[in-house]
Amino acid sequence: MAVQRVLKMGEPLLRQVASPVTSFDAELAALVSDMDDTMRALTGAGIAAPQIGVSARVVIFELKDNPRYPHLAPVPYTVLVNPVITPLGEEQEEGWEGCLSVPGMRGLVPRFRRLRYRGFDAQRAPIDRTVEGFHARVVQHEVDHLDGILFPQRVRDLRNFGFEDALIDQLTPMPD
Ligand code: NI
Repeated sequence: MAVQRVLKMGEPLLRQVASPVTSFDAELAALVSDMDDTMRALTGAGIAAPQIGVSARVVIFELKDNPRYPHLAPVPYTVLVNPVITPLGEEQEEGWEGCLSVPGMRGLVPRFRRLRYRGFDAQRAPIDRTVEGFHARVVQHEVDHLDGILFPQRVRDLRNFGFEDALIDQLTPMPD
């Protein structure tokens, strides 16, 4: 498979609600492979199918044990198809986010601290996890892509949104 072009904020597909996956077939496997190649080439922590131009409810994410982010617990490599998120409790916390579709920028985004997510892997095996912290943040960020939402739309105070190199003193380190 191949590294694909990543759509940037402003391109209409990123604002659309993506379509549910109905067959877990070779086409889905090829899509996941392209997403995987693209995420790794750009050293992202996650990517959603619309970001490579495919309107399908598929996201992938992973955070390896990384000395650059020692405060973050690793997130296992996950392919998540047709995800459903249920927040657990009202508690939200703010954290800095970036996005491969909003290159060079960071924003402070509130997310639910704990949630349950369900969905399927690429072989249609069910996934059902309860997570918190950065893992919960990544899932919310990626699933937002499937509903046409990019992280800048979640920033509460636009003073906390800007170019990564200009915000450098304010940022807690956070992967894309
Ligand atoms: Ni993103």
